[in-house]
Amino acid sequence: MLSIKVNAEISYDVHIGLDWKSHLQSLVSAHKKILIVAPATTIELGNISGIAHSLGIPIFETPDAENQKDFATIERVWNLLGELEFGRRDAIVAIGGGATTDLAGFAAATWLRGIAWYAIPTTLAGMVDASIGGKTGINTGAGKNLVGSFYSPQSVCIDTWWLKSLSDRDFSAGLAEVIKTGFIKDPSIIDLLESCASLDDARAVAEELIVKSVAVKAEVVSADFKEGKLREILNFGHTLGHAIEKSAGYSLRHGEAVSIGLHFAALLSKESLGLNPEVVTSLRELLRKFGLPTSVDPGAYPWEELLESMAGDKKSRDGRIRFIGIRGIGEVDWIESSDPALLASCYEKIVA
Ligand code: GLY
Repeated sequence: MLSIKVNAEISYDVHIGLDWKSHLQSLVSAHKKILIVAPATTIELGNISGIAHSLGIPIFETPDAENQKDFATIERVWNLLGELEFGRRDAIVAIGGGATTDLAGFAAATWLRGIAWYAIPTTLAGMVDASIGGKTGINTGAGKNLVGSFYSPQSVCIDTWWLKSLSDRDFSAGLAEVIKTGFIKDPSIIDLLESCASLDDARAVAEELIVKSVAVKAEVVSADFKEGKLREILNFGHTLGHAIEKSAGYSLRHGEAVSIGLHFAALLSKESLGLNPEVVTSLRELLRKFGLPTSVDPGAYPWEELLESMAGDKKSRDGRIRFIGIRGIGEVDWIESSDPALLASCYEKIVA
């Protein structure tokens, strides 16, 4: 097992290669009461009902995927915490993907103004990104992740056992965040992925990819927990990615939308920051090799609609759309005052 420390509002460890069942058992011994929050598919996959029954702990079953991050679900979690008479020394354990850790972390942040929570991510995207860094929250009518809190878990337990049953589509979606991490900060991730001929090869080096990606995320979050500026580098590919996700009605995986956004951000970096076109090509080819999309159908994703979403994004300032770009691999820069004609011409280049 390897542990990587994150120094945020609290200091905590991300354990990689730790058996999640024995970890859960140790949490039960450490707290008087525990509530597991997990989606039905994860409960079944990990036989969590059986384990919870034998340990005498309740489970809150969430709806699947992004649907669980809504007001009705968080209200049901609060109601259950009330029924269970959860106090300040009790804890929530989130077992699931990014939506589950966002929801459960937000429940912990808001119950009694903050109780302990632990993350056991079960998807690649959750392991390398969502469960680390303390961004918790839900979606509302006003938009995605607009209601939330920076509230770190007490620990993150990454057990790659979960990845065995992760679909290729979801594994690839997680790889989009890994690839992003390589281009913003760690070229050795790119080298490792370039040496993989297939998705199965990437699965075989998943733990190494996770260690490298977590190390970058831990370093960035420790330096800028509340996203003053530096943490924004993690949003490379996300400005357009979030807009695509919204236009798709969240039917695309987050990583798939980010993949298209990465291609766009690389093209914009070439025009605005002088990024070498060979780097744009290597990014695009790496995404494609793992089955990730890099282009859009203009009928499904009209430019005007994407532009409007990007202008309303929480990262835009005074109506100016902000992009994270790269001058070269590992050299991040901010693109603040993009010419609308330039943005439209980059969009034309990603039209299928
Ligand atoms: N997913 C981006 C961040 O945690 O800041």
